[in-house]
Amino acid sequence: MKSYIVGNWKLNFTVGEASIYLHKLQKKLPNYRDIEVVVAPSTMALQSLSLQVDRHKMKLAAQNAFYRDFGAFTGEVSFAQLRGVVDYCIIGHSERRHIFGEDDKMVQKKVAAAVRNKITPILCIGETESERAFGETADVIRDQLMGGLADVSDEDIDKVIIAYEPVWAISSTKAAKLATPDEVGEVVKLIQKTLKEIYGAKIEDKAPILFGGSVNPSNAGAYLTVPGISGLLVGGASLILSEFTDIIEIAKRVKS
Ligand code: PGA
Repeated sequence: MKSYIVGNWKLNFTVGEASIYLHKLQKKLPNYRDIEVVVAPSTMALQSLSLQVDRHKMKLAAQNAFYRDFGAFTGEVSFAQLRGVVDYCIIGHSERRHIFGEDDKMVQKKVAAAVRNKITPILCIGETESERAFGETADVIRDQLMGGLADVSDEDIDKVIIAYEPVWAISSTKAAKLATPDEVGEVVKLIQKTLKEIYGAKIEDKAPILFGGSVNPSNAGAYLTVPGISGLLVGGASLILSEFTDIIEIAKRVKS
């Protein structure tokens, strides 16, 4: 299976800065066949970056999109409009869930719309600090997975990526702590078990599972060696070119 290194730029960089970053990244990046390098810039920059991106080396992702294709939905951008512009879209990121009130129903519709429009959804799931403290992690993970994947058929599950991001480990949260590889491994097992329940044993090696939450060059190797982890979703460290390329290098080393 391929490894995925996905940079989530969140609300950072002007269009010009994004273009300069992409230019420098592509210059440094060899053509790694077994590592899919992806960056998710702000929607504003996607159109121009899609003309600049060398798709042999890397791909673009959107950070969010709306599930209806066209219509009276002021302020939204649809998956239909993103078709041909991006290959991936992050869906259900904890910042969307907690700041913008997206629930599992909304996430479900967005995942389905992405698949329908041939854009690979990167479905983010993860428990908050208090959910973990109350022993609710397994239920939260199960509900978010079952909810998000409710409209994804057996034929389409290999077009979906899952990203486990414990909310308490994301660097933007006040008391961000590092998740230990063991903690990540436990949840990966839960995810695999739930996927098997929904899709049966043939799910093996489909729906790659990524980890995200304060990933940086010093901990990337440890997370990438957790059994069942196929890549990383990187926030803060992806904004610093040298850190992002170091993480890609580490993935290459772990892979070979
Ligand atoms: P972080 O963000 O790497 O800055 O913790 C990860 C994410 O929110 O996707």
